[in-house]
Amino acid sequence: MNLVTLILAAGHGTRMKSTLPKVIHPACGRPLVYYPTKAALDVGSDRVVVVVNPETQAPVSSALSEHVGSEAFQTAIQEIPRGTGDAARSGLQGLQLSPEDGVLILSGDVPLLSADDLRPLIDALGSDCSLAFLTFRAEDPTGYGRILRNESGKVVEIREHKDLETDAHRAVTEVNAGVYAARAGELIAALSRLNSQNAQGELYLTDIVADIASRKPEAVRTIESNPEALSGVNDRAQLSLIEQILFARIRARWAQRGVSIVGAPLIDDTVELSSEVRVEDGVRLRGKTRVGTGTILDVGSVVDEVSIGSHVLIKPYCVLTDSRVGDGVQLGPFAHLRPGSVLEEGVHIGNFVETKNTLVKKGAKANHLTYLGDAEVGEKSNIGAGTIICNYDGFQKQKTVIGKGVFIGSDSQLIAPVTVGDNAYVATATTVNRDVPDGALAIGRSRQQNKEGYGLALRQRLSEAAAEARAKKGG
Ligand code: UD1
Ligand code: MG
Repeated sequence: MNLVTLILAAGHGTRMKSTLPKVIHPACGRPLVYYPTKAALDVGSDRVVVVVNPETQAPVSSALSEHVGSEAFQTAIQEIPRGTGDAARSGLQGLQLSPEDGVLILSGDVPLLSADDLRPLIDALGSDCSLAFLTFRAEDPTGYGRILRNESGKVVEIREHKDLETDAHRAVTEVNAGVYAARAGELIAALSRLNSQNAQGELYLTDIVADIASRKPEAVRTIESNPEALSGVNDRAQLSLIEQILFARIRARWAQRGVSIVGAPLIDDTVELSSEVRVEDGVRLRGKTRVGTGTILDVGSVVDEVSIGSHVLIKPYCVLTDSRVGDGVQLGPFAHLRPGSVLEEGVHIGNFVETKNTLVKKGAKANHLTYLGDAEVGEKSNIGAGTIICNYDGFQKQKTVIGKGVFIGSDSQLIAPVTVGDNAYVATATTVNRDVPDGALAIGRSRQQNKEGYGLALRQRLSEAAAEARAKKGG
């Protein structure tokens, strides 16, 4: 049996109040529709068809391709949103299916379902069962399709909320989750018989239940599932709740693989952590961030698309973007790695240091209050507190190259483009605007003068002036 999965996602999602299609709103770094697609692939679908509308096709395809590859799915267009039954018809159009093939139907906005939740549905499709679907007990069934059964407990139909006529039916708490597995032959036949004589004037996918059950009562089965897994996203409040559940699952997943999680850091689904990593509260890891073994991310850092080596110590409150951090690096607190920063093994970058498009080679240090932009810092060089690389003249960025074993004294400025040779020494408070040869001392500051006794005389004069000013104010 081949298995095709349809993911219904052509609705307009108006309750999101968004210009972005609902199913590509991000949750834990992935578009919502990624999650049902992944579950469908994990459960062994041979083909995944995402049903979209003409406006959402392009953005949905490109967002989903980024996460599963463009080979993993195809899209089908439902021209007009005529209901879930019509969406299923659109999804099946043009597929070469044999009647025994299985069709799984999911919604693009129900992201918490896993392959384990879906497997029982597929397993149910035996020779006598041609339609199985998930149900759950809703505390408040408002809005859901109710499962109506006969005296012997067999499912007779799903009645949509807006089509309910009696209080007895309204009181039914067993509801339809909108997740189905069916044999292609019976499904296609039942879909072809749908009509829109209902409260919403739509083609209801749910009507296939009555259609198949009236012909072969044994052929329809329900499987009760856990309501949490079936939660859907209709508005941004629900999106936020679901994202919290996904984050909790991601933390549990890494904890099981040997990562220490302290508190509730927010780790995107796209991130990879090694064993023995420790991630503390308030850390936010985004994009394709990778973290090597034994690395500690202390409280509060935000890390986006960064590859971090092993045994790195990231002290609290650092911000790292599009960068690479080598093994054994120490960073922060309050360090800022902007795009294109590469720190080789054993580098130390301390508090209030900002780097951008800069290579800091093995063992080099910049421990305090420094800006390194468009620069290269050689092995084991030491950049003193308050050093600023002046890389921008208001029009162009220029490069600074600092050799190995260089000492840059505190409060120096290096005006790019400039090169400081190996083992050179730049004296404190020097403004370097010419290249410094290997091994040279560069000193460029005005000469200090000491004037004997002037300090005391100056104080005297200043304190008298202050007293006079106070007296004037008082009088
Ligand atoms: C549907 C079920 C209901 C069930 C509920 C569970 C029907 C008629 N009703 O109702 O029994 O309890 O889900 O959440 O199926 N879609 C399209 N094209 C359309 C209409 C919808 O692709 O023309 C997509 C939507 O984008 C969405 C999914 O189908 O992903 C479900 O549609 P929605 O309008 O949310 O159905 P409900 O009213 O929630
Ligand atoms: Mg819905």
